[in-house]
Amino acid sequence: MKSDELFALLRRRGVLWPTAEIYGGAQGLYDYGPLGAALKRQIEEAWTAWFVGLSHDYYRLDPAEILPEAVVRASGHLENFTDPEVSCENCHTAFRAETVLEKVRPEGVDGLSPAQIAEVVHANHLRCPSCGSTALSVPRPFNLMFGLDFGVTGKERAYLRPETAQSSYLAFPRMWDVGRHALPLGIAVIGKAYRNEIAPRQVLFRMRSFTQAELQIFFDPDHFVVPFDRVAAEALPVLRVPRREKGEETPEWVRAGDLVATGNLPEFYVYHLVHTYRFYREVLGYPADRIRLFEKSDQERAFYNRIQFDFEVRLDSLGGYKELGAVHYRGDYDLSRHGEGSGKDLSVTLTDGRSVRPHVLELTFGIDRNLWALADTHLGTEGERTVWRLPACLAPVPVGIFPLIPKAHSAYALRLADELAATGLAVRYDDAGTIGKRYARMDEAGTPFCVTVDAETLADGPSRDTVTLRERDTKAQTRVAVRDLPARLADALRLPRPPRA
Ligand code: GAP
Repeated sequence: MKSDELFALLRRRGVLWPTAEIYGGAQGLYDYGPLGAALKRQIEEAWTAWFVGLSHDYYRLDPAEILPEAVVRASGHLENFTDPEVSCENCHTAFRAETVLEKVRPEGVDGLSPAQIAEVVHANHLRCPSCGSTALSVPRPFNLMFGLDFGVTGKERAYLRPETAQSSYLAFPRMWDVGRHALPLGIAVIGKAYRNEIAPRQVLFRMRSFTQAELQIFFDPDHFVVPFDRVAAEALPVLRVPRREKGEETPEWVRAGDLVATGNLPEFYVYHLVHTYRFYREVLGYPADRIRLFEKSDQERAFYNRIQFDFEVRLDSLGGYKELGAVHYRGDYDLSRHGEGSGKDLSVTLTDGRSVRPHVLELTFGIDRNLWALADTHLGTEGERTVWRLPACLAPVPVGIFPLIPKAHSAYALRLADELAATGLAVRYDDAGTIGKRYARMDEAGTPFCVTVDAETLADGPSRDTVTLRERDTKAQTRVAVRDLPARLADALRLPRPPRA
């Protein structure tokens, strides 16, 4: 489906819509409706179960979203968190330099200085993408953070956090005291991040307020042992820098063991690449042939990273591979910068008496981009039918309950809906229209199971009651005992968890 078509469908179904829609919307801001908010919660829960579930020493926090200026100064964001901006002196539209250079440099402008960007613009006689004028400004670095006047005097500066990661670095010393005084220690945050994107576009892909799920794993750089042999034989679809430099765009399948043995990557890093890949496949259900682990070069990596592979999925709606998350090896960049900035030594003393400044492995994940990608890859039309084949564990409404004939069967169906809701399931009762129309509505909402109460249910007698259970993906209908329903649904909807290290 094209992006516009998909957005129209999601808007019509109440998944999401532009913020302040009645005022014409606000660029880069979107609100989630009932289905979208429920799906977002499911993705967040699935991410938590999988990644925080990797170890007993990984915790999820809920920190503030506003950071004092000293924090973003120390982290390097005040100086480096910029995108090159080019504006048109004729129509006064501002563009990300990447957009102006799109046709001649589809790989983007990461690593190019403003002077190099200006050179490409000049050499290719590039024009304003909006009005066609050649009067383009010299590129300038534009800081993406939203600054705030903090407090009544307005003299203190603060910033909306540009990434949730910073909150975890600030929490590290406190969590060290609260925890077992052992590494690795994981701190996860799911929450809003804010960026004043120069040109918000592609709906949920370049937003100004979005949700990240990030796990920072603090580890001893001399001793981060992982059970690598468990994953060594698994193959990953990687696109590494040398192949990229030859113009290759498709990934090649390489065994995890080979990425370490001949690919010069550390075991701990590849181990987490495998677990992240498994999350994309086994929990989110992206097809293997759409996923690419895209290695960033020295020039392209974010300023804090030593190794970076972006997790990309090929999306029809956006016409190519799009980054949905990444695995970043940030070294000791963050704790040393915050150590200097705060004047506190953020090293820790381990049980063997060594004092180390932990290194950080960051597993980052964009909730909104993945929500869109789950619609792109799993929602489609099949003849007359529109079906959202979401993995069952992510379904915003996992169960629909219908009385076959409203007057005759609704009292029973309502009672059953209440009983299932009391087990913690989100259920939707629907008695409007034909049963076919009701199935169609639930298919479009991604509901994997529908339960219909009919005359047979009432005739069966109290302890033998049965209902029809209809499965979205196969359209198969089976007769199921009501007393078996909760366990059967709970089994089918359980969130997958990784094996603990
Ligand atoms: N802490 C590392 C970090 O923030 P990033 O690549 O800037 O790295 C991580 O962002 C993830 O956050 C991305 O992979 C993407 O999924 C999501 N993300 C970043 N900017 C976004 C934006 N403007 N709109 C929506 N999602 C965004």
